[in-house]
Amino acid sequence: MSSTLESPSPLNHSTKSTPGLSVLKLPDPGVASKRVAREIGALIRQRASENRNCVLGLATGSTPIRVYRELVRMHREEGLSFHNVITFNLDEYFPIKPNAAQSYVRFMNEQLFDHIDIVRTNVHIPNGTIELEAVPGYCRDYDELIATTGGIDLQLLGIGRTGHIGFNEPGATQDTRTRLVKLDNLTRLDAVKDFGGMDHVPLLAITMGVDSILQSHRIRLLAFGEHKADIVQRAIEGTMTSAIPASFLQSHRDVQYLLDDAAAECLSPSTTGELSQ
Ligand code: PGA
Repeated sequence: MSSTLESPSPLNHSTKSTPGLSVLKLPDPGVASKRVAREIGALIRQRASENRNCVLGLATGSTPIRVYRELVRMHREEGLSFHNVITFNLDEYFPIKPNAAQSYVRFMNEQLFDHIDIVRTNVHIPNGTIELEAVPGYCRDYDELIATTGGIDLQLLGIGRTGHIGFNEPGATQDTRTRLVKLDNLTRLDAVKDFGGMDHVPLLAITMGVDSILQSHRIRLLAFGEHKADIVQRAIEGTMTSAIPASFLQSHRDVQYLLDDAAAECLSPSTTGELSQ
């Protein structure tokens, strides 16, 4: 089923087995990113009006940058306040210093946190500097902390060419929680440009697990470009398998993929709804 450009609401990719999954094809990454940013802004404001916190799950990488840019613009030009916002980032390289050029602490500061009025103690990013022996306890605490906030209201995701969400690489099962993982070679290859050589790319990372992600109330996954088309198709239309951790999102009750034309290229026409904005 395919909608017209004026369609007011997203269409569901609704087979019996994936009733909570919808897929939107948007004209370009900018339009898709603004749509997600607007949804996040509306959620923050709604929660603020109820005197409640808004808990966001945040992602790094090139994909969400436009969302953060739009949120910063909404803060500056539309008075969107992040005072009631609590954030949990998906992952961090391990080990890594927070001030390293490639650390996700630095990425989040530069892309978002330095430009908005978030309370710094409400920001959570897995700590790449703790002792190896302390990691399991730290990871348990991370999941527990998310739970004590009432859970993530909206989780922003990208998808890696391996099918990873967070750093849940092929082999990650549906029941995984926050933990230390080995990075897939393809993921490390994709990171070479940031680290200036394969030898400098970390072997390990701390990541929220597949189950930690699936606990989120809403999930919005952005994917842009033809290099994502094949994995997006397999994650959405293939069977759920730990060979493609993103495929487990099919079991979620409110997950939306927002794709540009190139990333949606391999999907069957019946899967996507098209929107102009
Ligand atoms: P990218 O990474 O946004 O840089 O393509 C996405 C991911 O690995 O989740």
